[in-house]
Amino acid sequence: MKLNQFFKKAVDLGVTYDPRGKKSIEKMLKKETEKMKKLEGKEKDFYDEERAWNPFPDCRIINGTGEEEFNRIMVGIDIETPEMLLLDRLRERGEKIDGALIHHPEGRALADLEKIMPVQVDLLASVGVPVNVAEGLLHDRMGKIWRSIHADNLFRVERAAELLDIPAVCCHTITDNMVWKFMSKHICEHEYDNLGEILNAIMEIPEYVQYGKKGNPAIIVSGGKSSRPGKLYATEFTGGTNGPEQFFEAKARAGVGTILSMHATEKAVEEAKKHHIHIIQCSHMASDSLGVNLMLDEIKKVNSKLHVVPVSGFIRVERKKW
Ligand SMILES: [Fe+2]
Ligand SMILES: [Fe+2]
Repeated sequence: MKLNQFFKKAVDLGVTYDPRGKKSIEKMLKKETEKMKKLEGKEKDFYDEERAWNPFPDCRIINGTGEEEFNRIMVGIDIETPEMLLLDRLRERGEKIDGALIHHPEGRALADLEKIMPVQVDLLASVGVPVNVAEGLLHDRMGKIWRSIHADNLFRVERAAELLDIPAVCCHTITDNMVWKFMSKHICEHEYDNLGEILNAIMEIPEYVQYGKKGNPAIIVSGGKSSRPGKLYATEFTGGTNGPEQFFEAKARAGVGTILSMHATEKAVEEAKKHHIHIIQCSHMASDSLGVNLMLDEIKKVNSKLHVVPVSGFIRVERKKW
């Protein structure tokens, strides 16, 4: 399988599980293509053509033409220069590794991270928060993320990959969409008497079991084991990065009782407690691993040569179906 085939398949999977829905994504891409055709001058020079077909600004090939073979891959939640060197070292020792699949965005995928955040508007709409409210609240937070990432040293990993001749691709929201769907289906759609029962259900999932045994289990950060859950949603699994803290009040008004999250800031926990929303913080690395695993399982169905070297927080668990 070539790198661009791998990535196109990944994008298709991301769309299938996206809270925005396939139809609205197609509409968005069509509008973008029309806009692209009309651009002139500087606007045309700086336009990112990827936007006309790929609805995930935080997912892209960060090194390579796309024509490279991409079957034997190093997979990590974060792959930075140390892991690139590790990959190169393993190659030196005779291991055949074609390239790297990275979860957390690097390079241009990181530069454009805030542009995926409107996914959160659709995500919140699915739990009953009006789109105008979510959009209004999200606006400032997107500006903050944009300004803070803008000052980062964005292209160091991309450069390391270039120098070491390592084709590399970032798949962030694509796999986060998949784990969001998985948690919604396997955890949220069931009935529980209390948060303790939800914790137990999460701790049956192999990725969480492995992390739990290493001292990094799912934990309750707002509420207690005997608290009643109310309506349960996995709203903090996809959407680029944490939304604004004001989302908790909006969610409480919409009737949300308990939230599953990958990570929550102290400010978020404080705000959730204020509005009596419970939060179960599932292990971040286990959650990201689960999403990446679901994507790799689908890719394996079309590429039996797929071979994975897990690094940097990623643990490989294979599933036939879910
Ligand atoms: Fe993630
Ligand atoms: Fe993550």
